[in-house]
Amino acid sequence: MPVTILVGGQWGDEGKGKVIDILASRTDMVIRSQGGNNAGHTVVHDGVTHKFHLIPSGILFPDCRCVIGNGTVLDPSVLIEEIKELEEGGIATRDHLVISDRAHMIMPYHPVIDRLEEEQRGDDRLGTTYRGIGPAYQDKIRRIGFRIGDLAKPRFMEKKLKFVLRLKNDVLRNLYHAEEFDEQRVLDEMLGYGKALEPYLCDIFPLVQDALDSDQKVLLEGAQGAMLDIDFGTYPYVTSSWPTAGGALTGSGIPPREVDVTMGVFKAYTTRVGYGPMPTELEGAEGEQLRELGAEYGTTTGRARRVGWFDGAVAKYAARLNGLDSVALTKLDVLSEYQTIKVATGYFHRGQYLSYPVSNISHLKHCEPVYEELPGWQSPIGDARSWEDLPPNCQAYIERISQIIGAPIDIISVGPSREQTVFRKLPY
Ligand code: GDP
Ligand code: IMO
Ligand code: MG
Repeated sequence: MPVTILVGGQWGDEGKGKVIDILASRTDMVIRSQGGNNAGHTVVHDGVTHKFHLIPSGILFPDCRCVIGNGTVLDPSVLIEEIKELEEGGIATRDHLVISDRAHMIMPYHPVIDRLEEEQRGDDRLGTTYRGIGPAYQDKIRRIGFRIGDLAKPRFMEKKLKFVLRLKNDVLRNLYHAEEFDEQRVLDEMLGYGKALEPYLCDIFPLVQDALDSDQKVLLEGAQGAMLDIDFGTYPYVTSSWPTAGGALTGSGIPPREVDVTMGVFKAYTTRVGYGPMPTELEGAEGEQLRELGAEYGTTTGRARRVGWFDGAVAKYAARLNGLDSVALTKLDVLSEYQTIKVATGYFHRGQYLSYPVSNISHLKHCEPVYEELPGWQSPIGDARSWEDLPPNCQAYIERISQIIGAPIDIISVGPSREQTVFRKLPY
């Protein structure tokens, strides 16, 4: 069984990009299966920092085939720009980047509607990335979306756009009193993108099936994280896709029986961008300190990330939902200065103990975390390359987190670069 699923275990930005870059050197195919350019995956490779929003983080390895799967939503202008940047940096994409023609497009009106909808929500806004993700997935499910393969069918595009733009312009005009979209301009813009992307588009079904049949190593690159899952996250403060293991399969066309390992990536503490409950959040000076130590500013929007202690209840929940066999723990170096480090194991809500993040987000918003306080190690660990290099208190922190999650921590990241990694076991 050649497939590994890699998912974020918290609210995104766990360091998935770095872990995928490490695994990609021994992987034949990396598939992005959900989300869009709301994602920002940072890879520090040979001293150069790359930020990928749509392109799979395996692209830096010429022998690794990179696939953008059917479950994603793609903004063609962003994709073209990302491809251009890579090519200009001397990284060829033509031979090993493939885009599923089933993937839906973020149309020019989607980011506009995303922003208007957020403004309309006022105090209840979600804090989206304004990239049009929600509106694009909404149209996919409503069956008025455009698939990227449609760009090869100008007449179909024209006919469908007539119908869809009437719906969109009606809302823009009457609900938001905003500028309407011109049919011809949208059509011309989209068909222009079609020309640039045509060499990358195909039906990925045979490609993926061949990879499975020939026992190639396939890695499914998750975006976002379990707590942003549309079903199991802190709804409605979530993204509009399924960042859990099930989403990786429907978003790529891979059947469950092919999956060998499901790996979760967790930060050694917690961060979140946007609004919604976050029980272990640190505010004021404590929050500021952790944010600065971890340089916690969003890869996609540059927003300051909310920060807090490791939430073991969230981590265990994510491990159970995804069926994690293996864990990568990142940014451990960020905690090196602390005298003691807190880890939440559950919560209290009005005297009732909660062992996991319950579906009622009002309860989650007002709950009190139950903390364990562990001794810090107070020495830099960025140069650690083996388990023995880690101070005993650091080892104890890792062991305790592993115990809480209920899965082995096989990869430990102690800095942003590839080398700053301690391997206890590789998934393959
Ligand atoms: P992703 O969305 O899950 O791929 O994560 P992001 O790239 O958005 O955010 C993770 C950030 O942490 C990036 O800036 C990485 O370069 C950085 N990073 C990853 N692992 C480590 C680590 O172990 N230590 C430190 N200090 N930074 C790390
Ligand atoms: P990666 O892949 C962190 C958050 C947004 C917002 C919510 C909904 O880098 O881990 P959306 O634009 O998706 O409708 O916004 O989801 N969000 C992320 N937070 N990392 C991400 O991706 C995110 N993608 C979306 O901040 O709160
Ligand atoms: Mg990110």
